[in-house]
Amino acid sequence: STALLVSILLGYLLGSIPFGVIVTRAAGAGDLRKIGSGNIGTTNVLRTGRKELAALTLLGDMLKATVAVLVARHFFGDIPALAAGAAAFLGHVFPIWLRFKGGKGVATYLGALIGAAWPVGLAFAAVWIAVAWLTRYSSASALAASIVAPVLLALFVGLVPALVFAALTLALWALHHENIARLMAGEESRIGQKSTAAE
Ligand code: G3P
Repeated sequence: STALLVSILLGYLLGSIPFGVIVTRAAGAGDLRKIGSGNIGTTNVLRTGRKELAALTLLGDMLKATVAVLVARHFFGDIPALAAGAAAFLGHVFPIWLRFKGGKGVATYLGALIGAAWPVGLAFAAVWIAVAWLTRYSSASALAASIVAPVLLALFVGLVPALVFAALTLALWALHHENIARLMAGEESRIGQKSTAAE
């Protein structure tokens, strides 16, 4: 339907905005893709040593998905809202503005989740913070939180959102294959460390 198509287009275009790249470039903090892991997300912005830029990146990469979900729900309803959230995630991962070479989608996943079911978004953030506090691994924290989210959606929200976010979780794990290899080799960089051992 048109509603679904418009929602997907809106989500994709908003999701495509690479806040990490924009914010670091605007601040003259260098080319994010030549720093640390080369990823365009918050964790890698932190490796520039500029915490305020990392905070802005997190906020932007989250809110673009939340906005997409809320706007699509307002005009079209719950299913288009989920489609907009998933499209925002895909936009962040395959952004039209960066020749389809984007990020790993953690913040955008969380933003979509907050739009879809904010208490589950809070739970995601709580798991992320707990694992990060214990391990100092950003990747491991996201991987763990992304397992919890679809389970909570299935239990408390509904099967359709649970399935949509389960698919995003699979994508998120696939996008972290290098991080997973580094974690298993004991070579993953901890939060705030300047570079990843592998690169
Ligand atoms: O899950 C966080 C992920 O984005 C890790 O980023 O830069 O360590 O590969 P990075």
